[in-house]
Amino acid sequence: MSTTTEERRADRMIRALFAVAILAAVGFSFIYWYDDDTQLEGAFLGGGLVALAVGLIVWSHRLMPEGPFEEEYPDLRSPARTEAEVLSSLERGGVGRRKMLIGSLGAFGVAVAGGVVSTLRSMGPTPVSLAYSPWTRGLKLVTSDGTAVNASEVPVDSIVSVFPAGFTNSPQAPAVLIRLPPGLNHPLPGRSTWAPQGFICYSKVCSHAGCPVNLYNRTAYELQCPCHQSTFDVLRGARPVFGPAGGPLPQLPLRVEADGTLLADGPLSGPPGPVFWHHS
Ligand code: FES
Repeated sequence: MSTTTEERRADRMIRALFAVAILAAVGFSFIYWYDDDTQLEGAFLGGGLVALAVGLIVWSHRLMPEGPFEEEYPDLRSPARTEAEVLSSLERGGVGRRKMLIGSLGAFGVAVAGGVVSTLRSMGPTPVSLAYSPWTRGLKLVTSDGTAVNASEVPVDSIVSVFPAGFTNSPQAPAVLIRLPPGLNHPLPGRSTWAPQGFICYSKVCSHAGCPVNLYNRTAYELQCPCHQSTFDVLRGARPVFGPAGGPLPQLPLRVEADGTLLADGPLSGPPGPVFWHHS
């Protein structure tokens, strides 16, 4: 078998291996976007890299010039090659082939880079500010299943977990709605209209470390956090009266429509969550 035949065979093998690597990289991206089967993704990516590695090994062993190389010393001039020798060398070394193989490598790099860049979506949703709250004026108060809360369904001294309509999955959204007996509330300055008909609403995200404040002592009118027992005075702006919480629970101004629909009448009085989030 002549050397030229061996080179052609090696050339075909390398093309095939690089083609497999490219297809594997494209397959990885396809699986990632349309199936998200991590085992298949690993198989495609691993297979592509193995095909690339084998192709490079074959290239280096079969097509690259072999040594030993000698250079006359101390004469440092470039060896005087005739034009025919240079052309012959270039032909043998395969400039056209080299271009093709390097092009294949480039295509593989593009395919892999596309797959890697596309995995950035796995980094999750864009983070929002810790001070963010979805509560805005006019949003209905709903339960976790999206059902609107009606004033007629909330008896005095009861507590309901509520969310702004359309934001039941937002971690900064949960709030507690309490219906107080008439005349008990002591609104903070500027909040005299925030608790119509005894309905009062506070963020449910604890101002200590963010646990859900979901325990209500209806005799003392206090909300309690189950994590570290911080206790908040419902009648006085949910100021902390016990425990490690360093600030009150933000209050939501409310409005009651003629048909009993409960609405937010503005944003929360402050950012929800641990107070240390908001001291930077
Ligand atoms: S998280 Fe509520 S008291 Fe610690």
